[in-house]
Amino acid sequence: MATNKLAALVVLVAFLAGPAACEGINICLNFNGWLKPSILDPLFCPRGSGPPVPSPSGSGLSYGYYNTRCPTAEKIIKDAVKKAVDENPGIGAGLIRLFFHDCFVRGCDASVLLNTTNSQNSDTEREGLPNKDSLRGFEVIDEAKTAIEAACNNTVSCADIVAFAARDASYFLSNGSINIRMPGGRYDGRESFANETDQLPGPFSNVAQLQASFAAKGLTSDEMVTLSGAHTIGRARCMFFSSRFSEMDPAYAAKLRAQCNGNGNTNVNQDDVTSNVLDKQYYQNVLDNKVLFASDAVLNSTVTRAQVTENADKAGEWERKFEKAMEKMGKIKGDQQGLEIRKVCWRVNNVGLY
Ligand code: HEM
Repeated sequence: MATNKLAALVVLVAFLAGPAACEGINICLNFNGWLKPSILDPLFCPRGSGPPVPSPSGSGLSYGYYNTRCPTAEKIIKDAVKKAVDENPGIGAGLIRLFFHDCFVRGCDASVLLNTTNSQNSDTEREGLPNKDSLRGFEVIDEAKTAIEAACNNTVSCADIVAFAARDASYFLSNGSINIRMPGGRYDGRESFANETDQLPGPFSNVAQLQASFAAKGLTSDEMVTLSGAHTIGRARCMFFSSRFSEMDPAYAAKLRAQCNGNGNTNVNQDDVTSNVLDKQYYQNVLDNKVLFASDAVLNSTVTRAQVTENADKAGEWERKFEKAMEKMGKIKGDQQGLEIRKVCWRVNNVGLY
């Protein structure tokens, strides 16, 4: 308990002090993979209890779930996503990531959207180290939810809106090449805690840590490699990769160094080649040593290189695998799901009710 408190304090101090301090601090806390590994790991990160138990796979989900319940729902979401992506493709990237970060913490229950929870906890997932000042696309979810409530109230969960929005963003950003069959029928959770976001793998994670974090959610190593391909769109802050310029392709590193210009909060494109297209370019970038994070670069290691090469080479193969892996990610369940259909996506229906 004392260790947890100390860990929370150091994370807070590092966070408040900004990226430069984070780079220098070198203390791994519970956020394994989000801060650079440290010699103090054994002191601060005792992980005696072994890997978490895999979440059970989703049940009760079905395709076309809203066809009879709320026939306009999926179109409302698709239109909202299309409008947002047309204005700024980066929001589409944000929506895909929102889905991943929702499903990995408490299952796909829209806990990532909450500001106000049943226990009146304000330190929600949105405040967690991987999410704060980083997640985007919330306004698209809210816009879709408002329109859906007007069409058929109390019927469509925020968790399903997040899942469908990720599906639609994948479709638009891939220019129609990626068609995810996403079932519906999720329910919204009533709790959300910042510290639980430490279940998300971090940019400094090694292969074993990446595999373990995905396995803990019932996903295979191949699915981990497949889903990492989402780093072919969107942006990332320099604080997560500026310590490894020397390990990158020299010309690429020089370009990034100039873009970052010593500021850890600067954002750069994740894929320098086709930055706004959800395609298999990421895997060529891994092979060319032109990826940002250590967690991207380590996929070019003996354990996973065969999959990376295959994804880079075979037309259409990665796209089909990505469709399946996203659908499977959408079935991750937490312990306390099926609680309600929220009226507003960022707060539970009745605070403190049960
Ligand atoms: C494999 C382990 C993963 C790690 C370590 C990781 C880590 C990260 C980090 C550090 C960022 C940049 C955040 C920032 O600078 O604020 C990022 C961005 C992003 N990640 Fe991942 N990620 C992983 C897997 C995934 C998966 C599975 C998906 C989706 C299927 C995904 C989708 C994205 C997208 C789309 C962005 C850009 C978001 C935007 O532009 O708003 N990532 N990721």
